[in-house]
Amino acid sequence: MEGLQILVLLVLTQISLTGSSPPRDPVACSDGTSNCTISNAYGSFPDRSICHAASVAYPRSEQELVAAVAAAVAAKRKVKVATRSSHSFPKLACPGGSDGTIVSTRWLNRTVRIDAEKRLMTVESGMLLRDLIYAAAGAGLALPHSPIWYGLTIGGVLGTGAHGSSLWGKGGAVHEYVVGLRIVTPAPASQGFATVRELGTGHPDLDAAKVSLGVLGVISQVRIV
Ligand SMILES: Cc1cc2nc3c(=O)[nH]c(=O)nc-3n(C[C@H](O)[C@H](O)[C@H](O)COP(=O)(O)OP(=O)(O)OC[C@H]3O[C@@H](n4cnc5c(N)ncnc54)[C@H](O)[C@@H]3O)c2cc1C
Ligand SMILES: *[C@@H]1O[C@H](CO)[C@@H](O)[C@H](O)[C@H]1NC(C)=O
Ligand SMILES: *[C@@H]1O[C@H](CO)[C@@H](O)[C@H](O)[C@H]1NC(C)=O
Repeated sequence: MEGLQILVLLVLTQISLTGSSPPRDPVACSDGTSNCTISNAYGSFPDRSICHAASVAYPRSEQELVAAVAAAVAAKRKVKVATRSSHSFPKLACPGGSDGTIVSTRWLNRTVRIDAEKRLMTVESGMLLRDLIYAAAGAGLALPHSPIWYGLTIGGVLGTGAHGSSLWGKGGAVHEYVVGLRIVTPAPASQGFATVRELGTGHPDLDAAKVSLGVLGVISQVRIV
């Protein structure tokens, strides 16, 4: 009887641990922010290899994000974007080789602006869907479409074209409702090795930048309607 109670308790503890604890950071470094490995939220990529990277950056503002990308570009390092959720199975966040740089959007998770009248929200790309939904609700708004799991970041959801299901309006893909974004891309040395591009509705590069698997640059902010 006691054994069963302990078992039940253990099972319950496991459930509450898996249910409510935030995911551990997928990036681990042996030396502060250098000599790192990155995995996904499941702890293993499909090919079971361990992905190494020379360093990781945790920018807390767009300015710091530009500086992180510029430093990597100046050092001719490959860059990949990682999120705090890292819920994609494929090895998308691996910079390749072992001398790449990971830029984490962990701390780029704030609301930038809400215009309730126009039903427009601008948020940083590392914001979790959960926080986006709460922030929207706080202004009397709602996100009509989303994947079924809210522990994903808006940048990651766009990166892979994640979607819910709907035939109504523009359908269930979140990127259909993005009307602008700011993306940090590599630039020539004369421009300081990195630059912010603002892509609004009608910009020919907006569609490509929305669903870009992190290979075109690091999305800094997303404007969603
Ligand atoms: C429980 C669960 C349920 C799911 N349900 C659905 C569903 O219903 N519908 C669906 O379509 N999908 C679903 N998915 C898949 C999920 O939507 C995708 O795997 C999504 O990409 C994960 O987002 P993430 O924030 O973890 O991003 P990550 O997996 O960390 O990143 C995804 C890609 O986006 C890139 N990226 C991330 N942020 C940026 C940025 N700021 N700038 C540029 N590139 C960036 C990354 O480099 C990477 O290439 C589900 C996943 C899970 C775990
Ligand atoms: C990097 O970390 C691994 C262990 O995670 C260690 O074995 C290796 O010596 C480290 N390399 C450097 C250059 O610090
Ligand atoms: C941003 O994420 C951190 C943890 O990574 C959390 O402490 C903080 O509350 C988040 N901020 C917002 C505005 O959600």
